[in-house]
Amino acid sequence: MNKIVLKKQLSEKVFLFEIEAPLIAKSRKAGNFIIVRVGENGERVPLTIADASIERGTITIVVQKVGLSSTKLCDLNEGDYITDVVGPLGNPTHIENFGTVVCAGGGVGVAPMLPIIRALKAAGNRVLSVIAGRSKELVILENEVRQSSDELIIMTDDGSYGEKGVVTVGIEKFITQEEHVDKVFAIGPPIMMKFCCLMAQKYNIPVEVSLNTIMVDGTGMCGACRLSIGGKTKFVCIDGPEFDGSLVDWDEMFKRMGTFRDAEREEMEHYEEHLRGFAKQEELHTCETCMDVEPTTETIEELTNRDSEWRKELRAAMKPAERKAIERVAMPELDPVYRATTRTEEVNKGLTKQMAVREAHRCLDCGKPACVEGCPVNINIPSFIKNIERGQFLAAAKVLKSTSALPAVCGRVCPQEKQCESKCIHLKMNEPAVAIGYLERFAADFERESGNIALPDL
Ligand code: FES
Repeated sequence: MNKIVLKKQLSEKVFLFEIEAPLIAKSRKAGNFIIVRVGENGERVPLTIADASIERGTITIVVQKVGLSSTKLCDLNEGDYITDVVGPLGNPTHIENFGTVVCAGGGVGVAPMLPIIRALKAAGNRVLSVIAGRSKELVILENEVRQSSDELIIMTDDGSYGEKGVVTVGIEKFITQEEHVDKVFAIGPPIMMKFCCLMAQKYNIPVEVSLNTIMVDGTGMCGACRLSIGGKTKFVCIDGPEFDGSLVDWDEMFKRMGTFRDAEREEMEHYEEHLRGFAKQEELHTCETCMDVEPTTETIEELTNRDSEWRKELRAAMKPAERKAIERVAMPELDPVYRATTRTEEVNKGLTKQMAVREAHRCLDCGKPACVEGCPVNINIPSFIKNIERGQFLAAAKVLKSTSALPAVCGRVCPQEKQCESKCIHLKMNEPAVAIGYLERFAADFERESGNIALPDL
């Protein structure tokens, strides 16, 4: 799992993420990409690395909310973890001193173009950059591109910033102003790249594009990314992602990119519906003021009564189908590189408050909770979990301590997958069990860290 250390919103739907990935930061080169996954069953999304810092052990990616997976990624925040990041993948950009080059980036394509601009400049090229967006708000990384370019033209479709028009207008302006342009690089939406190629071909200038096809494994095995380049089948992940733009079969690319459009739209609608219901709940229970830091005055009977008003309200606030749609939380872990240098810190870092509350929402609060039968000390599992769901973490610890003296230890070492979690109703529906052990550890750790440690109420 890779931690997000910085998140910045660049425009309405475009976000920059700096992610812990020290090994990738060390070995990546301009043009390389990564594949990320959000959630155990998440789609694998290829994203070009926009920047990296070896000192901080981080890489930077820029993501635009366009479909379900990019939306899930953009909904993550600083401190959250991306389930996995694989890379660096693909071939790096071929960099040399070509002479004068035009680099064109459209929309979010400016981000993968930035490292190429920097590398071309460092190799001694005269770099003329064109960056474009539909409007002023959608023009990103202007300062960064300007710093590494000899000249910069900004184009917006509506003329709200820079010059009015599409990116090819800027490319042609550079081509006609210079005595000679040796190469054009273009990254952006496929339709934009196609027209950049036609423009470069009009002046007989070699053109390089970076293709962003659908990918699955990223290692040349699945064939999801295959395309015809110069009449031959190529795999974008291992033969690219950069190709001679004049050889790309653009029609085939457009067709393949649209393969999952309907399925994607349906999934997106489902996700948005789910979020609308969940946001209400999360807002209610994860704001700091809702989270208790004072010991609860409620009795153990009140905290464990399934028919109490607060418990009924919780059940009514979210449909079981919505609870089932939430993905099981993954335990944040220490970065493997850091882990290799320390023997004093636990590998499992424990859930954040938001993670715990979200996971608690998965519990269906069964009338006959089989999970309790699976627990050797009969912890009232739904009750402690529902107290977490309503943000009453010390109350959850109190429920745990009414039957178990050592919940922090049990949450760490009990084989929950063979005990309580093995009886969870979710398994009968072919879904992962509620992470009871993680939640037990969370409530016990929260109590310890709050300083309000109650004696076991046994
Ligand atoms: S992503 Fe599977 S072959 Fe390229």
